[in-house]
This record gives sequence, structure tokens and C-alpha cells, in this order.
Amino acid sequence: MTALLDVKNLSIRFPVKRSWGRSSWLYAVDDVSFEVKRGETLAIVGESGSGKTTAALGVARLVHASGGTVNLDGQDFLSLEPEDLRQARAKVQVIFQDPYSSLNPRLRAEAIVREPMDSIGTLPVSERPARVAELFEQVGLRPEQMKLFPHQFSGGQRQRIGIARALSTNPELIICDEAVSALDVAVQAQILNLLRRLQRDLGLTYLFISHDLGVVQHMSDHIAVMYMGKIVEYADRLSLFNNPKHPYTKALLSAVPSVDQKRKVERLLIPGDPPNPLDPPKGCRFASRCPFVENACRAAQPPLDEIAPQHKVACIKASH
Ligand SMILES: Nc1ncnc2c1ncn2[C@@H]1O[C@H](COP(=O)(O)OP(=O)(O)O)[C@@H](O)[C@H]1O
Ligand SMILES: [Mg+2]
Repeated sequence: MTALLDVKNLSIRFPVKRSWGRSSWLYAVDDVSFEVKRGETLAIVGESGSGKTTAALGVARLVHASGGTVNLDGQDFLSLEPEDLRQARAKVQVIFQDPYSSLNPRLRAEAIVREPMDSIGTLPVSERPARVAELFEQVGLRPEQMKLFPHQFSGGQRQRIGIARALSTNPELIICDEAVSALDVAVQAQILNLLRRLQRDLGLTYLFISHDLGVVQHMSDHIAVMYMGKIVEYADRLSLFNNPKHPYTKALLSAVPSVDQKRKVERLLIPGDPPNPLDPPKGCRFASRCPFVENACRAAQPPLDEIAPQHKVACIKASH
């Protein structure tokens, strides 16, 4: 089965002003490759600042990629011309962390949900109201709520509006960027259940971004772990949870309280902060915080090696 989304060597950099009037580049995403098969979910996890959002925005063509390709459903998405791009945009929708700031406070919920249909023109105008009503039902909102404004909804309900809006163009790929991170645990579970049901019913493909491996364990077929703009481990969900290889993945996992209570994972704390992204180290980017560091780690960047089928790791000590 070919992948719906195939991202190769994606790089995204931002110009940053430094002292003395000098400027340089911050490589927020540095040569990152991944794919997501139709109907599956790839989770991208990592601490704040690791480049997850930038990678997502790059895939959706909401920031400019300085290198690499994004193949979506057989089309080279990053080089589409305006008319083809408008049509292809209907296939990708993004759900953001904070539905309150991403929903226009002056519009009624029905107008918010309808807006992508109007701007992309996916449905005849006369059919749009009925489609909005159908979307409200699909995400578990009541018909009379269509007339309300965003502040009249709870956080979880607002995220349902965001989901209905994302569904309005019949997308194939939905990028969820920390979509449940701002919600309390009980509401998180409801929204995750809704996303899973919609995936099953509509055959959706998800790129699911979260800093929290605990959230991702219920929501992923494969997982990519990012650190400072690079993927350091990439595996199917069971391999990643049962047999993590990269010291950074192990540390992230040990911070998830609900993972395998019997195993009594020793809590590995990651000391210190990541290095300055404007001056990344020459070798492994995790070396300065890694409990298992050796001299060789600082000499060169470890390649992302396939150590088993479906399991890649960028660590010289993990590849054997
Ligand atoms: N528009 C921007 N201009 C400059 N630097 C940015 C910009 N957006 C993100 N960054 C930097 O890129 C890196 C990755 O950020 P981001 O993708 O938001 O990470 P994450 O979503 O994993 O928290 C960070 O060092 C961040 O400061
Ligand atoms: Mg982010």
C-alpha cells in the first residue's frame, strides 16, 4: 500500500537576528522524512521546541520549506500551482491546540464550520447549510448550538467545533497539533475517542502531534520522536513502547505514569536544557544531556539507522 503522505528530507529554517547585526538561520526542522499510510496515524512527539509544529505547518504548506518534498496522494504538494493547490488544500486540514484563539470570536459556530467550504468551494452553496448540520451531529454537538458564539462553549466543545470545521472539506489528512493538550484528562479522552471514531467511519489519516507520549499511546500506529529538529527514533507503536532504543525516547517514556504499571519503569530524568538551536552541536544533538554519552557521540551526527523492520534509531549505542 502506498502512503497517502510521503515526506522526504523536509527542512525548514527561520532567519534570526543575532548581536552585532549579524543574522543566521535556525534550523527548526532538519532533514526529516516520514510517511503515513491511508487510514493510519503517525504521531510526532518531543519536548517543546523540537520542531513538531514547524514540521506540521511545512507539510500543510503554511510555512515555506527550504528543502525536501511533500507528496500527498500522489501529488508533489509543495510545488503545486495556485489552482491545483486550492483543490489540494481541501485534502489537508489542521486542528490546533487552542480552539479559542483559532476560532473567530465574532462568528457564530455555524459560520466557523462553514468557512472552509466557502473559501475552497467544495460544495454548491445551496447544499452547505445541510452539510453544516450534518457536521454538528457528527462531532456530537446539538443543532441549537449552531447559533452560539465560541465563548458560549466549553473547551472540549470548542475543540469539537474545530474538528467539524476541519471535516467540512472532506479532507483525507488531518493534522492535529496538540489538539487535546489544553483539555483536562476526562475531556481529552472524549475528544480522542471522537477522533478515533471519525477515523474509522471516514477513513481519515492523521498526523498527530503531541509532547505527551501518554496521549499518543492511544492514538498511533507509528511514532516519530523528534529532538531539536531531527527524528531520533521512528517505530511502530508497540516497538516504541515495549522496546525503546534511544535514550531520549526512554526518558520521555519514563515520564508517562500510565505506561505498563507492572514494569515499574525507573524514572529517567533528562538533566539540563536542549542546546541553543542557533548553535547545534556537531555530533549527536542529545549528547549534552545523555546519561550514556561517549566521545564518539560528539564527533559526528548519528544516522537514523534501521535496526529492525519498522524501527529506526539515531544513536550509535542503540544500533546493535
Ligand atoms: N516563526 C519563527 N521564527 C523563528 N523561530 C521559530 C519560528 N517558529 C518556530 N521557531 C523556532 O523553531 C523551533 C521549533 O519550534 P516549534 O516547531 O514550535 O516546536 P514544537 O512545536 O515542537 O514546540 C524552536 O526553536 C522555535 O523557537
Ligand atoms: Mg508546537
